[in-house]
Order: sequence, then C-alpha cells, then structure tokens
Amino acid sequence: MRHPKITVVGAGNVGATCALWAAARDLGDVVLLDVVEGLAAGKALDLAQAGPIAGFARRILGATDYAATAGSDLAVITAGLARRPGMSRDDLLSRNAEIVAGVVRSVAAASPDAVLIIVSNPVDAMTGLAHRVSGLPPARVVGMAGVLDSARMRTFIAVAAGASPKDVQAVVLGGHGDTMVPLVRQSSVGGVPLTKLLPPEEIERIVERTRNGGAEIVALLKTGSAFYAPAAAAAEMAQAVLRDERRVLPCAAYCDKEYGVGGYFVGVPARLGAGGVLDVLEFDLTAEEKAAFDRSAAAVKDLMAKLKNLGY
Ligand code: 2OP
Repeated sequence: MRHPKITVVGAGNVGATCALWAAARDLGDVVLLDVVEGLAAGKALDLAQAGPIAGFARRILGATDYAATAGSDLAVITAGLARRPGMSRDDLLSRNAEIVAGVVRSVAAASPDAVLIIVSNPVDAMTGLAHRVSGLPPARVVGMAGVLDSARMRTFIAVAAGASPKDVQAVVLGGHGDTMVPLVRQSSVGGVPLTKLLPPEEIERIVERTRNGGAEIVALLKTGSAFYAPAAAAAEMAQAVLRDERRVLPCAAYCDKEYGVGGYFVGVPARLGAGGVLDVLEFDLTAEEKAAFDRSAAAVKDLMAKLKNLGY
C-alpha cells in the first residue's frame, strides 16, 4: 500500500515541529528539507529515532535536494525568516518573497500534484505568491493562519471562562496580521455564547491578545517566533487534506466573489479535503464585522501590490 508523502520545507522550529506532528499523527512518510547542509538530515534522523519510543510507523528523511521530495501529495512551506522583537510580519515581505518563490517553484516542479500549505510570513501574501509562481489551481494552495489565531483565542477564552479548551469554539477571519478579525459573535463555550459568559471588557482583552498573539511570543522569545502551535495548525490542515476529512477550518483560501474579496487569498472558513480547498463557506457578517474584514483584506491587497512592484 502506498502511504501519503509529505514534504516539509524548512527545518527550523516550525518545520521540524510540523514534521514531528505529522509523524505523531501518522499522516504519511515525511521528507524534511532545508538548504543548510545536515540540518534536515540531523533533525529527521533524530525524529526517526523517536519512532520506536513514540510509535511512529512511517519513514522520516532529511534532504537538501528537491529530488527527495518528488511525488509528494502535500508540502508544507515554512522556509523564510521569522520575526524578531519590534518587527511586523509585513517587514519580512521582500526577503521571504525571494525565498518562498524559489522554494515553491522547486516543490511544484518535483511534485506537480501536491497541495501546498504555506506557513511563511506574511502568510496571506506568501500564499498569493505561491499560487502565482507555482501555476497550480488556487484550490491546491492554502495558507495557515486562522487555525492558529483561532486556537490562540480558544486558549484565552478557556482560561478566562475556566473551561476546557476542547469545549471552546472561536473563529478568526481576515489576514494574519494586526488587522485580523476575531469574531466574538461566533465564539462559544459548549454552545453557550461567549457574551453570556464573560463581561465585555474581558472579551475585548481576549480579542486584543489574540491579535497580538504572535507578537507576545516574539517579545518573550526574543530570537524567533512561535512554533508549537503554528506547526500543530499546519498538521491539522494537512490531516484534513490527506484524509479527505472535509473539515471547515479558517484558512487563507482563494476568494473571488466570496466575501467580495476579488481574487486574493485571505482568511475565511474553508472546507479542506482531498485536493485542497473544496469550497469557501460564506455567512452574513454584521456591518461592523464586514468593515473589519474589508480593512484586513485591503491590507493583504496592499502587500500583493508591493510584491508586484518587487517583480512577483
Ligand atoms: C505567529 O503568529 C508565526 O505568524 C506566526 O506566531
């Protein structure tokens, strides 16, 4: 029997941790790739040697050459620079565009049938760029953001409400940046609306902390950005695709008429299954939510225009 093949590009913290989640979830054979000689090979070997203890059954390989990734069903792109304190995700645009464009061209050439999950920041723009340079249909390119942002919001709600995170629902739409849109109206604990459980000031604090969730961790770490939760989020999306789970997850998906976006990748509820994004689910936003979403989409469009000026 052929097992799914997963490539993870970038053997830094996010990439290596994503390989770990993929192995732990038994998603398929994993190829970890990095340009730094020995980095992916060393981490993959270490991870493979955790197999007998943790019960991983699939192959885990490290490589510097895209030939090793050939025929992958799915690729997670984590390559690029991470933020340092004081930087926004958008500050990474030109440097990461160069890296992501090169990586995506190589991945798409080696694995023309793969679904690409983009993690590199600024993620909505890097997902649009990956779509442009790969020549893949938009359904096969999707960015990881909303799963992470929603998980952060769920964590904060769980603590504030004294509830299990398992019972907390929350949705964050829009771009993965300062303008992201945490939707209080869609947040609940065991089906009970959040607004019935917490006072408005506390909810506002949760919304703000969610928006700054990445920056809070960058400020603490000082030398890099978050990786456990981003990697877990990418693995959750990978599983939905590889196992055709048809999960509805907030992701940076291609929207044309959807939410009136007009041909960009931005965070919306998307159904993920075999082949990538099956569809984008629309629902009525209030005037306030729509205004916030449009502001966020405008920020993504602005980055895409900057990319165009850079020649992409
Ligand atoms: C974050 O929000 C890495 O952008 C990612 O932590």
